Amino acid sequence: MDQPLLSADAILAALHWRYATKKFDPARKLSDDQWRKLEAALLLSASSYGLQPYKFIVITDPALREQLQPAAYGQGQITDASHLIVFAARLNLTDDDVEHYMARISEVRGVERAHLEVFASRIKGSLVPGALPVSVPEWCARQAYLALGNLLTVAALESIDVCPMEGFDNGKFDEILGLGAQGYRAVVLATVGHRAEDDGAANLPKVRFPDSELIERR
Ligand SMILES: Cc1cc2nc3c(=O)[nH]c(=O)nc-3n(C[C@H](O)[C@H](O)[C@H](O)COP(=O)(O)O)c2cc1C
Repeated sequence: MDQPLLSADAILAALHWRYATKKFDPARKLSDDQWRKLEAALLLSASSYGLQPYKFIVITDPALREQLQPAAYGQGQITDASHLIVFAARLNLTDDDVEHYMARISEVRGVERAHLEVFASRIKGSLVPGALPVSVPEWCARQAYLALGNLLTVAALESIDVCPMEGFDNGKFDEILGLGAQGYRAVVLATVGHRAEDDGAANLPKVRFPDSELIERR
């Protein structure tokens, strides 16, 4: 049997340790090495077809963070955390995006474009209006959330705190960051850093429904 790369117990312990941090210590910044690992976790995220229809806007500029804070209902994490990540998902996808992806596959795997025709056609076919079970922007947002999940887990393994955040005005974020003009919209945020010593939320017991409610075995 293959040896596990990392024990599930270690990962589960990290998942118990993590919590949605309400108060960050503004004096504690992440090191470049810590940040590099988190960026790698974002880049390695899985996505449907591998299309990666998103980008991650990393904001450390204090003035921009202050400008964004009111649009996140004044939540303190926006200005106090070491880093703010805006998960921006594509508003639309065209055949050009599929070709861009095919070119990348060719480059990385040394495969001729002609050999990717079946795959390319399948993706293009699923992007025609009505082919996906949800709208294209919604589908892209779902992909971005997977990257958020990866970030939460990898950060916890490195004892780095995160607050995932949906409590913000998406339209205002899009406007301040000029995302619409680039063909993106802000779908979710993550504030990343280290918890303040007096963050009362750190020691609260985790609230989760019992497995009997969430896991159905058939
Ligand atoms: C997508 C998403 C959006 C969230 N938005 C916010 C938010 O805007 N502000 C906040 O303080 N917590 C936010 N949370 C934190 C949740 O309330 C928290 O994850 C949940 O209560 C479970 O607790 P735990 O993460 O501490 O285990 C969000 C969590 C997720 C996954």
